[in-house]
Amino acid sequence: MKKITLTSNFIVYDSPTELSEEDQQLMNQAVTARKKAYAPYSNFSVGAAVLLDNKEVVLGNNQENAAYPSGLCAERVAIYSSGANYPDATILKIAISASSSTKNVNEPVAPCGACRQTIAEYEIKQEQPISILFMGETGKVIQTDSLENLLPLGFDKSFL
Ligand code: THU
Repeated sequence: MKKITLTSNFIVYDSPTELSEEDQQLMNQAVTARKKAYAPYSNFSVGAAVLLDNKEVVLGNNQENAAYPSGLCAERVAIYSSGANYPDATILKIAISASSSTKNVNEPVAPCGACRQTIAEYEIKQEQPISILFMGETGKVIQTDSLENLLPLGFDKSFL
């Protein structure tokens, strides 16, 4: 047997004002998207902004449903919308912002497992990593250069 230790690389910014101009703009667009979320059941709104290599920005937000599992997270709305509308474009970055109407979300909110799996699929499809930035409503921003940092030992097409 052997013991393996995996490492993940992140940058933690104290505030979005520390981001590059491009990343700040993308995060602002995620916030704009977040404000249009349809989240009447959780009161937890998430917005995502995807930057493509053709300079287009595709927005998404969580869309909830009375039949709870029928809803979809912001990240997947944005990523699948990118795939549907710009199938040949490369996704460079995704910025994510989350807030709640019942509490102050001041810690970075990381994408859920299903959204990580979705982002992983697109990294593999395009053979290029995707930069991921995530935050709450206020406070720190976490940035990582690839989904691999969020999903070690993932499931992919090589198993099929
Ligand atoms: N949600 C997202 O939009 N993205 C995530 O990565 C985690 C959770 C949404 C789903 C649901 O509408 C609400 O947040 C509460 O789980």
